[in-house]
Amino acid sequence: MTTLTLCSENGIELGSWEDRTIISDKLAALGIDYQYLPTRDLTDLNPDAVMSQYQDAIDEWQQKGGYQSVDVVSIQADNPKAPELRQKFLDEHIHIEDEVRFFAAGSGVFYLHLNHHVYAVDCTEGDFISVPAGTPHWFDMGEAPYFVAVRLFTNPDGWVAQHTGNPVAANFIDAA
Ligand SMILES: [Fe+2]
Repeated sequence: MTTLTLCSENGIELGSWEDRTIISDKLAALGIDYQYLPTRDLTDLNPDAVMSQYQDAIDEWQQKGGYQSVDVVSIQADNPKAPELRQKFLDEHIHIEDEVRFFAAGSGVFYLHLNHHVYAVDCTEGDFISVPAGTPHWFDMGEAPYFVAVRLFTNPDGWVAQHTGNPVAANFIDAA
C-alpha cells in the first residue's frame, strides 16, 4: 500500500498517511508532483508492452515536464546485482534534473529530505512521482527488489547521482 511517512532527521516517525489524496496534497505542498494512475492490463510487463499500455499518460507527462526521453526499468529480486543496485541509491544524493518514475508494478521507497524532515514515500503499483532537480533524496528498493518502472528524463546523461555527503540516510536504512 502506498504510504507517506513523515520522520525527524534521526528517524523518529511523526506521522503516516495511506490516503492517496492526502499524500498528493502533502507532497504538492512541498513542490513534489505525485499522482495515482490505476494500473492497467499488465499480464505482459515487457518494456514495449508497458510503454504502449501507458502511452497516453506518458505523452502527457512528457509534455508537461518537457521530458525528452522515456524508458522502462525492471528489477527482479533474483537479479544477482540486486544488492549492488540497491546500494547505489541508498546514500543521500541530488540530480541536476528531475527524477520521474511511474511504478507499473512492484514498489520502492523514495526518501525526500526537506525542511529538516524526511518524507518517506513508499511507492507501489500505479504511483507516479517527480522528485525535482536538486532535492536531496535517496531510494531504497529493498532487500528483495521488485519493480517495473517507467522513467522519464530531460536528458538521460544528466541523470547522475551527486552525493551530498550527508549521512542522514543511515538513520533509515536497515540491513543495507
Ligand atoms: Fe535519485
